[in-house]
Amino acid sequence: MRVFALTGAGVSAESGLSTFRDAGGAWTRLDFRDVATPEGFARDPERVHAFYNARRANLAKVEPNAAHRALGALQQELGVRGGRLYLCTQNVDELHERGGAAEVVHMHGELRRVRCQACGWADLWSGDLSTAITCPRCGRAGGLRPDVVWFGETPLFMEEIWEAVAGSDLFVAIGTSGAVYPAAGLVEVARRARVRTCEINLQPSDNAERFDERLYGPATEVVPAWVARLLA
Ligand code: APR
Repeated sequence: MRVFALTGAGVSAESGLSTFRDAGGAWTRLDFRDVATPEGFARDPERVHAFYNARRANLAKVEPNAAHRALGALQQELGVRGGRLYLCTQNVDELHERGGAAEVVHMHGELRRVRCQACGWADLWSGDLSTAITCPRCGRAGGLRPDVVWFGETPLFMEEIWEAVAGSDLFVAIGTSGAVYPAAGLVEVARRARVRTCEINLQPSDNAERFDERLYGPATEVVPAWVARLLA
């Protein structure tokens, strides 16, 4: 069986990472235009660095939860059975990897990576960033930024993602509000390819009615039960 899973911030919520649009979410406290757009970075890079430095530091303090582990186990078991789980995430944390997933497609990039806008150098980076830090390759200061996809930038791996959705037997969206495209449009790609669709969320997402099956509740309860049923 070929499964495509699209995850969002809800899958990491019970690990203690803030979602964006729930009560108390990041975008209820901050204007995303100030900290998650190229214009915001050009306007006030130190403000953007402070936002991502705090999130990067927080990553070191949190653990993967039962939903991450269940998806890691599902990917492994489907592989053994000759099938596959294509695990695509909008999240920039690495909790899927720490929860046992071997292959994760980060369509919005990764918080643990940094990129130089001047020369294109990119690599893992665990410390803070600032405009004073120089690029290890080109030596310029001020060009290093989180290697994440900001609003207005192009999500990564989309051709491969669209192909993987259309080639699946089951499309499941987990812990995402369905508010941001192109991720929110993947369920339409699945429906056009006659792929069965399932939504797992705390509450109905913006595009809930586009899903054949809908399971609601905390990801740490619903995802393990759903994986167990799928593998039975
Ligand atoms: N279990 C399951 N789902 C949950 C839980 C939980 N414990 N807690 C919250 N959720 C659900 C919410 O109901 C909501 O539908 O997770 C979803 C979180 O939605 P958003 O905060 O909008 O996060 P997401 O959908 O991942 O945002 C997409 O927007 O800001 C950009 O790039 C950012 O990747 C992000 C994208």
